Amino acid sequence: MVKVTFVLTDQTSRSVEAETGWKLMEVAVNNAIPGIDGDCGGSAACATCHVFVPPEWASVTGERTDMEQAMLDSTYGVQENSRLSCQIEVSEEMDGLSVEIAEG
Ligand code: FES
Repeated sequence: MVKVTFVLTDQTSRSVEAETGWKLMEVAVNNAIPGIDGDCGGSAACATCHVFVPPEWASVTGERTDMEQAMLDSTYGVQENSRLSCQIEVSEEMDGLSVEIAEG
């Protein structure tokens, strides 16, 4: 288990325990984190799991997949550090990770 923090759109934050091997979106949904809905079930087809990953965590969270990129190309408010949290698998190296939830 690792600790991850979600910064909500109202700038409050929620820290939760995350089991390795789970997707970050699943961790958020299981913990009822507001702003992460996971409507498509994790198939990179809805962007209701859009988060911003701080640059210092980019090497740990990995690169966007092609499907993820295609979805982000049609998503509002995308930034350089945008990711779909359903495409990020929690690993031991992510202990202490903090991601910001995108608006909308
Ligand atoms: Fe739908 Fe991530 S849950 S894109």
